[in-house]
Amino acid sequence: MTLPDRDALRARFPALSGETVFLDNAGGAQVPDRVAEAARRYYLESYVQLGADYDLSRRASATVDRARAFAERLCHADPERHTVVLGPSTSVLCSMLAREFGRTRDPKRRAVVIQDAGHESNLGPWTRLGDHRRGFEVRTWRVRPGDAAEVVLADLEALLDDRVAVVAIHHVSNLLGRIEEVRAVADRVHAHGALLVVDGVAFAPHRAVDVQALDADFYVFSTYKVYGPHMAVLCGKRAAFEQLTGDNHYFTLDAGAPYAFELGGVNHEGCAALLGVQEYLAFAAGRDPATDLDRAGIETAFEHFATLEAPLTQRLLEALATRPDVRIIGPAQAGRDRVPTVSFAHRERPSREIAQACNEQGLGIRFGHFYAHRLTTALGLDPDDGVVRTSLVHYNTESEVDRLLRAFDELL
Ligand SMILES: Cc1ncc(COP(=O)(O)O)c(C=O)c1O
Repeated sequence: MTLPDRDALRARFPALSGETVFLDNAGGAQVPDRVAEAARRYYLESYVQLGADYDLSRRASATVDRARAFAERLCHADPERHTVVLGPSTSVLCSMLAREFGRTRDPKRRAVVIQDAGHESNLGPWTRLGDHRRGFEVRTWRVRPGDAAEVVLADLEALLDDRVAVVAIHHVSNLLGRIEEVRAVADRVHAHGALLVVDGVAFAPHRAVDVQALDADFYVFSTYKVYGPHMAVLCGKRAAFEQLTGDNHYFTLDAGAPYAFELGGVNHEGCAALLGVQEYLAFAAGRDPATDLDRAGIETAFEHFATLEAPLTQRLLEALATRPDVRIIGPAQAGRDRVPTVSFAHRERPSREIAQACNEQGLGIRFGHFYAHRLTTALGLDPDDGVVRTSLVHYNTESEVDRLLRAFDELL
């Protein structure tokens, strides 16, 4: 099957035809026309409350139900074993999860483990369980020092015992770009009877999420990084959700049901926009965008994205590796276990200066700690200056990468 090439995919993103070369996708991706149109259509044609029996309300309810079913397929949820909660952001969903665990009163499991190379939105909430009111012991699985910033499974082993309730990790660091071995972590965590919470935000734009293969108890990501609306998806095992109460009204609290965790309901127009993402993935997979995309189609779309991304990552990393004045932070090699999020620190020049000089040339990159504050500190970087990060996705082009590399050459 011939799939649409990069140009055909890129043409679906009207915002990319502007002046700025957009290389800041890990901050949030652009949306294809179908996403914007789907939200517009929803606003103009069925912007009413769900659950009533009149036509418009039925249509609105069907949109939200379809979006939830799409989110389930996007995660490869098994409807018997998993459920999906939709929320406003990954930060809110992680915070909600940690708060829920803070209420559980299992006297035997009073410790949590965090992996410190992640984004603060999945670290801070668990760390706060260590305050005097909640009294959890917080253990840190530390990133290894050195520019490769490795996360070593053997280091986790020493932190696990039967007091651990939850281990919180990332699938990909939004600064390092490496795909971590989540399944191996899950096996270790489960062997100690604990639950695994995975931040998949920096993974989900690049590869098909598969909660079954990963065996994660909770997996969370933000749809605005996956070419969609500003929302987030939390996919969890039903058995794991059933350990939590949820904060919704007493008459809606049905253990393990998504609504228990979706206060005030979900973003309806966002759900419509999410269905626009489904249409885009169908287009990328060479399928009919008018029908719901099955799991195989989702996997085809993401394999296609990975194939388009690989040469971009390689070009960028190879060029940076030739510069002795640059420290690549994260894996220096392209490969299947890497997404095109590439960070570096210059040995003499501040990251701020480099990023801002590129910005003046219309190159949309940025600098900083990217909320991986603990990581930048552990690596001995000044978090306020952090790294220069370039984050690409499948719609970026080799000529954009070349333009950036030329700018680096001139500047440095
Ligand atoms: C890896 C990672 N985790 C979590 C988040 C937080 O996501 P949200 O903005 O949806 O709260 C981000 C946002 O940049 C991220 O990159």
